[in-house]
Amino acid sequence: MAQITLHVNGKARMVDSDPTTPLLYVLRDDLELHGPRFGCGLSQCGACTVIIDGNTVRSCSFPVSSAKNKQITTLEGLGTVARPHVLQRAFVEEQAAQCGYCMNGMIMTAKVLLDKNPHPGDDDIKRALEGNLCRCGSHLRVMRAIKRAASERV
Ligand code: FES
Ligand code: FES
Repeated sequence: MAQITLHVNGKARMVDSDPTTPLLYVLRDDLELHGPRFGCGLSQCGACTVIIDGNTVRSCSFPVSSAKNKQITTLEGLGTVARPHVLQRAFVEEQAAQCGYCMNGMIMTAKVLLDKNPHPGDDDIKRALEGNLCRCGSHLRVMRAIKRAASERV
């Protein structure tokens, strides 16, 4: 075990963890941040996506020790129920979720996409989301939500 300081959603958080533990487990079990989900555990589905230093990372396959000295953002860091991020609002307004299990990965991936490309076309969105699996088939509504968020961003 080792004491590791993580910078999560703008706050420094100390955890006591085996350095090889997947970041996802530390976020969910130690820091009680349940936005990132456990889907496959094999870097295949995107449910566990977080943003580290501006890029998407699959936290199920990312050792917690590798997150030291980096800025981690989880879904909770985007917005709150009272003050949702424009993407969170757009996903609700478009009713993008069915079961909702993949939505963390969709929203976090969309956040990085819009940060890098504020006005993506359909092909840009499809490319960005191609590694995010949705067993409910919500991709068309997810695309509408991302386009709505892009048009509402100032
Ligand atoms: S749970 Fe990490 S990619 Fe599936
Ligand atoms: S909404 Fe159910 S997995 Fe995507």
